[in-house]
Amino acid sequence: MTDKTEATARTMTAWRQTEYGGPEVVRAEQMPVPSPGRGEVLVGIGATVLNAADVRLLRGDPLLLRLAFGIRRPKQPGRGTDAAGTVHAVGEDVSGLAVGDEVVGELPGGALAEYAVSPAARLVRRPAGLAPATAAALPMAAGTAWQALERAGVTADSVGLRVLVIGASGGVGTFTVQLAAMRSAEVWALCGEGNRSLVERLGAARTFDHRSTAVEELPEASFDAIIDIAGTAPLRALRRLLVTGGTLVMVAGLGGRVLGPIPRILQAVLLSVGAKRRLRPLVAVPKPEVLAELVALAAEGRITPVIERTWPLTEAREALTHVDAGHTVGKVIVVPGH
Ligand SMILES: NC(=O)c1ccc[n+]([C@@H]2O[C@H](COP(=O)([O-])OP(=O)(O)OC[C@H]3O[C@@H](n4cnc5c(N)ncnc54)[C@H](OP(=O)(O)O)[C@@H]3O)[C@@H](O)[C@H]2O)c1
Repeated sequence: MTDKTEATARTMTAWRQTEYGGPEVVRAEQMPVPSPGRGEVLVGIGATVLNAADVRLLRGDPLLLRLAFGIRRPKQPGRGTDAAGTVHAVGEDVSGLAVGDEVVGELPGGALAEYAVSPAARLVRRPAGLAPATAAALPMAAGTAWQALERAGVTADSVGLRVLVIGASGGVGTFTVQLAAMRSAEVWALCGEGNRSLVERLGAARTFDHRSTAVEELPEASFDAIIDIAGTAPLRALRRLLVTGGTLVMVAGLGGRVLGPIPRILQAVLLSVGAKRRLRPLVAVPKPEVLAELVALAAEGRITPVIERTWPLTEAREALTHVDAGHTVGKVIVVPGH
């Protein structure tokens, strides 16, 4: 293992949970700085960006999630996945990354800390001109937006396609609007009244307040694609909005306490049988090759993460509480003090 020994502390602050619950269950602990294993690197965290997924894991909600993440308590106690930072140590069998490299990626967990280990293969280099907080906003939120648009057929040249984005002001939504507009689609968006001008600046041609406009009021058979990041509108109503051959992509992870979005996904499968309009669930996964493209777009200024607020690592619980409330505008950043 090669190590940036002088610059790397022996102990660090990390936010961890030993039980499921709200933000009150996370604790800032002092613990040894972890060592990278085979194929891994140690990253000194420059910025961590929170996602709705972080609070779903915190709460173990829906209960079905616990089958994979730990029945009684989370198997991985460290929260936080999306981060940018500096490689401080390199484990065996790592090629292509060295101590001192600036990186960004979706880590397997534990990024709400001063240091975290990550498989090297998950990381992408951060160009010098891209701030750590800007880069760290990209992996999950922009990666999900990218994968949702691809699944909906809103690809590189989408001139003439009309796309509806529901939940346009959140982390995934702000990137979905930008990427769809960048691909020349005409974007309509549902968001809170106070965020309409922001979403229009991001590229939406028309915006509607989701509290006063029901999807049933939008024109029928007029959208080539719908990206549903809110998950509350009736599926039958959404299907009516699609043109023949159009696609609804279901991004939202919401639903009942036990099964989460599973019943809605099953309903979508049933409504799609023999229909000329597709209703497709999305399970986004970390894709470093997509992240590399997103990093390049951000470095060129073609997409710009919306950053609502930055908290110091010492106040990470407040940042989680804010995301837990469900009204995040763009992304929330947590920055260590080292
Ligand atoms: N399928 C996947 O692989 C995948 C990947 C990533 C995320 N997700 C899921 O996607 C959802 C969004 O994630 P996120 O990180 O973007 O969340 P987020 O940043 O917390 O989203 C919050 C935003 O959503 C808006 N919103 C809430 N309900 C709305 C509605 N009915 N209509 C329009 N806007 C609404 C809020 O606006 P107001 O303040 O005005 O209410 C707020 O600005 C979550 O359920 C998450 O679990 C799924």
